[in-house]
Amino acid sequence: MDKRTKFTLSEEEIPRYWYNIQADLPEPLPPVLHPGTGNPITPDDLAPLFPMELIKQEVSTERWIEIPEEVRDIYKLWRPTTLYRAHRLEKFLDTPAKIFYKYEGSSPPGSHKPNTAVAQAYYNKMEGIKRIATETGAGQWGSALSFGGACFDLEIKVYMVRISYDQKPYRRVMMETWGAKCVPSPSNETKAGRDMLAKDPDCPGSLGLAISEAVEDAVSRDDTHYALGSVLNHVMLHQTVNGLEAKKLMEKLDVYPDIIIGCIGGGSNFAGLFFPFVKDKIDGTKPDLRIINVEPASCPTLTKGPYAYDFGDAAGLTPLIKMYTLGHGFIPPPVHAGGLRYHGMAPLICHLYRLGFVEARAEHQLATFQAGITFARTEGIISAPEANHAIKAVIDEALKCKESGESKTILLAHSGHGHVDMAAYDAYLSGKLHDYEYPREMVEEALAQLPKV
Ligand SMILES: Cc1ncc(COP(=O)(O)O)c(C=O)c1O
Repeated sequence: MDKRTKFTLSEEEIPRYWYNIQADLPEPLPPVLHPGTGNPITPDDLAPLFPMELIKQEVSTERWIEIPEEVRDIYKLWRPTTLYRAHRLEKFLDTPAKIFYKYEGSSPPGSHKPNTAVAQAYYNKMEGIKRIATETGAGQWGSALSFGGACFDLEIKVYMVRISYDQKPYRRVMMETWGAKCVPSPSNETKAGRDMLAKDPDCPGSLGLAISEAVEDAVSRDDTHYALGSVLNHVMLHQTVNGLEAKKLMEKLDVYPDIIIGCIGGGSNFAGLFFPFVKDKIDGTKPDLRIINVEPASCPTLTKGPYAYDFGDAAGLTPLIKMYTLGHGFIPPPVHAGGLRYHGMAPLICHLYRLGFVEARAEHQLATFQAGITFARTEGIISAPEANHAIKAVIDEALKCKESGESKTILLAHSGHGHVDMAAYDAYLSGKLHDYEYPREMVEEALAQLPKV
């Protein structure tokens, strides 16, 4: 086994195609439904929100979709990203496991999000769109789209979940530095926001609510489209550039992971890493591969939610998507992993979970910060609170190897750095952070409002 710590590809080796898992699903995804008619939606229904190229990608079953040269050129600013062997963490844990991590924190905004933000900005620009409205949870997606907007001279408006806006003020400054405008959500600028403020002036916001505001903004103006940073099929597609790089790097090392682990909010960073590998499980060449999705115990969509049709946003403006959900009206507790506070989950991940190709587990926030501190003190990287969820599960699996004496290969999807999350680390280090119990009653209330399909 190679003793090196860092493994990289050349710029020439950045993938030229994204991998579309819809080509290899044993059963197709359930259709997305129009909320008014209950019928499957058509491309025309989505045209006020997205450019036609993205709508086509959303439903495409072609296995390989070409990455436009303009997008690949911008990817070169930070791609290919590095695959690390976590020698120091392995030593600290005294485990025979071999731990690798593919690190997306070296992009300009500090996460995986620009893999799709740049592509989405490009396709909107090609269609003559001048302005994009979006939501952001932790601020990573808002920053990434702001950066994408700067690359293609587009105006970007970001509705940022109030609790994250307060917890991470420097994210707003990053967005403004790239030329975007950012307001806290709920805001006074949309009906969805005003309705929520009338009900609860102190509402911490949620991704579902911020999506409602951004969608309302986009449909109210002809020059504006909407962009989503996770959940949708085309977002997962763009993120596969990362998994394809990881697979090529591991092939060169002649290793194949036994376990792949990542955190999931809407699912995009982890889907991007594991889709090119789960293909081998679907076609039977790697039947024993384990893929573990990690979510917050306070927002446990896959582990506790039913598989049902629901709205993607809080106000009920989006089409109906079949997914594991905690109910579109559910406002998750204000954990610091803002990017994981979403009531639903990518339909592609839900489908693979239901078919038994992937597993899920939920973690409490304190244990994830403890894991993040261990990672920082061994590997050096201060991770985003979202990524700490995955790190927690990696440490647990590596310790199981220590007990059993097995030398498994674990691949971690490391989605981003936590440099703008210092307030969260400060709260943890000074003993002010606490866990939130699973809010059963609030979820039950929200699930009672699921649309009848
Ligand atoms: C660093 C980081 N990791 C993970 C996520 C979760 O999103 P997704 O599940 O789409 O990767 C976010 C979302 O904001 C994020 O910022």
